[in-house]
Amino acid sequence: MNLSPRLRTIADLVPTNSIVADIGTDHGYIPVYLIKKGIAKKVIACDINEGPLENARTTIRDNNLQNIIETRLGSGLKPIKPDEVNTVIIAGMGGLLIADILMTSIEVVDTVKNFILQPMTAQEELRKWLEEHNFKITNEKLAKEGDKIYEIIVAVKGKMVVKDTIYYELGYNLIKNKDPYLIEYINLKIEKYSQILNEVLKLDSTKANQKKLECIEKINKLKKVKKCL
Ligand SMILES: C[S@@+](CC[C@H](N)C(=O)[O-])C[C@H]1O[C@@H](n2cnc3c(N)ncnc32)[C@H](O)[C@@H]1O
Repeated sequence: MNLSPRLRTIADLVPTNSIVADIGTDHGYIPVYLIKKGIAKKVIACDINEGPLENARTTIRDNNLQNIIETRLGSGLKPIKPDEVNTVIIAGMGGLLIADILMTSIEVVDTVKNFILQPMTAQEELRKWLEEHNFKITNEKLAKEGDKIYEIIVAVKGKMVVKDTIYYELGYNLIKNKDPYLIEYINLKIEKYSQILNEVLKLDSTKANQKKLECIEKINKLKKVKKCL
């Protein structure tokens, strides 16, 4: 199975011999890839909606993998029992929803070793949440599809100290590993904050002034990181 760059980057971060829960599986491409490549021993593909779960069942049946990939309907990690899996993938959802899914199933989370998270939004908030809830980010990667760049976060349970607020915005591992898409990603972020800055400069309120300072600080920090690469 040929995965898109985003899904392929996520799947290749799964440790060999894992037992995986893919939360919000939809098409089921990741579970099938993980089994076919011999990366996972077993996968439980979960989704909150019947339609997407049926898509996954079709992909699994087409590949004759019904014995190794189980499908379960339910919200977040609710369909998973403690100690059932050692790796959890939550991809293609907002960062706040990912945090909520982890928060509401602590009894399962506490028995999981690896978390591979791919937030579509609120990446900064998710990193802050992970730090505050005793997660340690061990790796991060960027994946590019068309003109979009996606962030993938690998975390385990443990203490993490984030030394500068810019590392919530731009994962420290991306900088440390000089991710191939990092400069392009920084440029996109500078462009985004410059656009917001242009808009707030037209306003005159306490909130707008605060946003203006935030944007200037972010742009300066992003430029500083880029200079050091
Ligand atoms: C955009 S798709 C992402 C599919 C796949 N993970 C990917 O990254 O390509 C989001 C999927 O998450 C499911 N979903 C949304 N909220 C969920 C929740 N709380 N628990 C489980 N699945 C959820 C949706 O039904 C949908 O199939």
